[in-house]
Amino acid sequence: MCTLPVLFLILAGTASIDATTYNVTTPTEWWQTAVIYEIWPESFKDSDGDGIGDLNGITSKLSHFVDMGVTCIWLAPIYESPFVDSGYDISDFYALHSTYGTLDDFTTLVKTAQELGLKVIIDFVPNHTSDEHEWFVKAKQGIEPYYSYYIWNEGIMYGDYRGLPSNWISGFTGSTWEWVDERNAYYLHQFSKHEVDLNWRNPDVMEQMKKVLTYWLDLGIDGFRVDAVPFFVESANFTNETLSGQDVPSDTYYYLNHTETKDQPESYPLVQEWKEHINNYTVSQGNDKVRVMCTEGYSAIDYVVKWYDYGSDVPFNFFFISDGQTSAVIDTATDIVDIITKWYNNMPSDQTANWVLGNHDRSRIATKVGLYRTDGIHFLILLMSGVPTLYFGDEIGMTDTFLTWAETTDVQACNTNETEYLSWTRDPERTPYQWDNTTAAGFSTNSTPFLKVNENYLTVNLAAEKEADFSHYKNFQKAIALRNTTVWREGTVDVELIEDDVIGMSRQLDGEDPIIVLVNWANTTVTVDLDSYFADLPDTMELVIADMYSGLNDNIGDTYNKSSMYIPAYGAMVLLGTSS
Ligand code: NOJ
Ligand code: MG
Repeated sequence: MCTLPVLFLILAGTASIDATTYNVTTPTEWWQTAVIYEIWPESFKDSDGDGIGDLNGITSKLSHFVDMGVTCIWLAPIYESPFVDSGYDISDFYALHSTYGTLDDFTTLVKTAQELGLKVIIDFVPNHTSDEHEWFVKAKQGIEPYYSYYIWNEGIMYGDYRGLPSNWISGFTGSTWEWVDERNAYYLHQFSKHEVDLNWRNPDVMEQMKKVLTYWLDLGIDGFRVDAVPFFVESANFTNETLSGQDVPSDTYYYLNHTETKDQPESYPLVQEWKEHINNYTVSQGNDKVRVMCTEGYSAIDYVVKWYDYGSDVPFNFFFISDGQTSAVIDTATDIVDIITKWYNNMPSDQTANWVLGNHDRSRIATKVGLYRTDGIHFLILLMSGVPTLYFGDEIGMTDTFLTWAETTDVQACNTNETEYLSWTRDPERTPYQWDNTTAAGFSTNSTPFLKVNENYLTVNLAAEKEADFSHYKNFQKAIALRNTTVWREGTVDVELIEDDVIGMSRQLDGEDPIIVLVNWANTTVTVDLDSYFADLPDTMELVIADMYSGLNDNIGDTYNKSSMYIPAYGAMVLLGTSS
């Protein structure tokens, strides 16, 4: 039986001005101390020279995770797919995308990873199938039970004129409704028209998808990342959505308020049912293997934390990268402190926090905040309590790659036009991993991979960063190592805004040396007395990790006095209290 950690808000420490201190009890399950790392299989490592990443490529690089201290890898979709939406358009839930490899390659990957002490989770995509899935091919022919697996509507007749069933707009631009002559009806798609929404009010769909879960559980995986949870169920009476009033084209997603197609109460119990299915599976196997369930949903905080109540262990906390709709604003230290405290204050008291820094749908964090702030934000998310989720390449400071309209492949962008595509394209964060300074950055022997390599690969690459005395990679590795301390596992979390521009975070526990993280978000130096912000600090602390750019690297190992702490412009520091 799992016991979950208790995290609760306690009153501010006596020496704190606006302190918010959170107590964390000891994590007991593997995933509560895990660092999750998303692998975009297409771009991670190509083993056969076709210019596209594959499973054997991933297997060949598993030691990278062990070296770094990452303990859990999440593979974005590897299922058979026409690849309209990079594999999220699944045409067979039981087969692997042939470009990626065979089932044997997959089982070798999982086995090798687990032998190395890594956990492997995969994407589970229940909202829709590809229009090439056998179910939809039959549905289009009117064959039951498949026809009823999807959502059909004949539209509204105005005399001889047929109108759409509703004004709903797809996340990928244009109507959610696509006409099928053969059926004399429209079908619903919340994303691309090649990704057909399943009808989650049909219990047969649940039975089918439980079989899918069992199939992958039988292959030994350690959990799932469930795709697009806010989109499962739509209003049954197809009520029109109201206009948002935003100044955006009328066929684009943010033109409407999505009160009928998103965050519907009926979506939540579905996740609960899968969680129970997974737990029952574990019982049926006669073991106590713990599997994690993460859920993906960009929504307002109340809707996101509600997934905790319905079986999600890690309802992705996207607030560093998105405000629930568009890109998150993290211009100031106040923005960051607000994001952190918002999550701690809203999550249920008996659950585990989580922090997502990047993924295949959003601009890379190093592009968003600037390379000079990248180490600082890494220190914070790795050293607060909870589960961080990183995107491949974050550890070396990979940035977005500019691609022209002609080079663009992402369906979300291709559905728009040459003027608009840059606001929608996800290709820039999907370019190949930069392993070294050789052909295609060591990603492939093929010099023209499926998406071009970022031209900064000659200097921004793993080999160079391993070689250097100081690098984003080495800082990342050092920060992860600090998670293996008792103070990280059990210490309180105190998050403070210092002098408007600095984010201060402490982990403290009686009898243990505290960890202090100071991140100056601005281009001005700050000198402070830390006693004004944190209670019970030791008088001196040792600088153990420092960001790459503010010159602090020369001070590693130096002792700092808490009463006159100097934090350079854009400086980020990890200090350990010295219990002398
Ligand atoms: C969310 C995925 O992260 C995204 O990449 C995809 O396009 C949509 N779901 C549709 O499956
Ligand atoms: Mg749906």
